[in-house]
Amino acid sequence: MSLLNVVVWGLGGHAQNRILPALAAMDQIKLVGVCSRNYQVVNACAKKWNCYGWTDHKQMLNSTEVDIVYIATPIGIHFSMAKQSLEAGKHVWCEKPLTCSYIDTQELVSLAEKRGKVITESFMYLFHPQFQRVKKFVNDSKDLHSVICRFGIPTIDNPGFRNNSELCGGALWDVATYTISALLSLFSDQQIKLIFSEILSKTGESVDSEGRALLKFSQGVTAYLEWSVGVAYKNEIDLWAKDGSFFTDKIFSKPKDYQPQYKIRDINGNESVKNGEQSEQFIDMFHNFVRIMKNKERAAAERKTILQRAKLMNDIVNYNGVKNGKLEKF
Ligand SMILES: NC(=O)c1ccc[n+]([C@@H]2O[C@H](COP(=O)([O-])OP(=O)(O)OC[C@H]3O[C@@H](n4cnc5c(N)ncnc54)[C@H](OP(=O)(O)O)[C@@H]3O)[C@@H](O)[C@H]2O)c1
Repeated sequence: MSLLNVVVWGLGGHAQNRILPALAAMDQIKLVGVCSRNYQVVNACAKKWNCYGWTDHKQMLNSTEVDIVYIATPIGIHFSMAKQSLEAGKHVWCEKPLTCSYIDTQELVSLAEKRGKVITESFMYLFHPQFQRVKKFVNDSKDLHSVICRFGIPTIDNPGFRNNSELCGGALWDVATYTISALLSLFSDQQIKLIFSEILSKTGESVDSEGRALLKFSQGVTAYLEWSVGVAYKNEIDLWAKDGSFFTDKIFSKPKDYQPQYKIRDINGNESVKNGEQSEQFIDMFHNFVRIMKNKERAAAERKTILQRAKLMNDIVNYNGVKNGKLEKF
């Protein structure tokens, strides 16, 4: 297979710190260029990574040297950028979540299918060995009983789009999407019932700051998901089965050199702690995206998964018609 030529569109801290280095480390991928509105940033990145730099995205999309557009901009503009990229004949690899609207996601997925282009959503942690170990616990367990999954982050000094509702800021789109994607990946073959959910915002703030959801899966597992912004850092998963339990920390976001640990308890509650494998999860993700590019069944499976995530997010948003309830003390 010839090299896949990728351009990164949007050059915030995330793209510069994690995406560009991971793409540049891939043998099967050539980082052909970067694109953003800020000339200084584009120029500096193009020099650093020895690639083209575009401030005009139309010129970038017209370039025959670009096969894949990696979108790393605020969530609220993913839809427009992904649509323009697909219409220009490019494959789209997009930061999570693909959009903040089920209808928009359906449109993009169907456009990608019609045009014979790949579309992916960057939930990088799914490809780290740590998440594979969680899956193994699920597959090996007798009668899994329940799962608790939480993701919360402190207030960020430079929040970028995160406080802007027009750009789909807020805790739901930024962090809850991880917990949803995890549960759907663990029980991908099961029906889901949404038992309860709430999305709350603080008085005077235009974006939501926390929420929770209770899900039931068709083979009996109950899952409690919780997410928040402006709290102490936490991203973890805890699974409880008839014959033991399993806990691991930093399941979603982690530094490159993170050494995962697994706290495993037997049926009597005796705990053993095991070390997991270190890995750079963005590189793990790009290996998977390369596999998707080579295989139509994998590309179709990715489209189906993207739609499942968007549908469950939509159900959570519309639960009892409650949108952005207020956080109250009583
Ligand atoms: N997987 C992860 O670990 C992880 C971590 C962080 C973020 N993310 C995801 O990455 C994406 C970007 O997040 P971020 O924190 O990098 O966002 P950000 O800093 O707010 O924005 C990224 C870049 O997008 C461009 N941009 C901002 N507003 C724009 C607008 N209205 N129109 C066009 N371009 C605009 C800006 O570049 P110019 O001004 O130069 O155009 C900016 O530098 C999001 O989808 C987020 O969910 C993922």
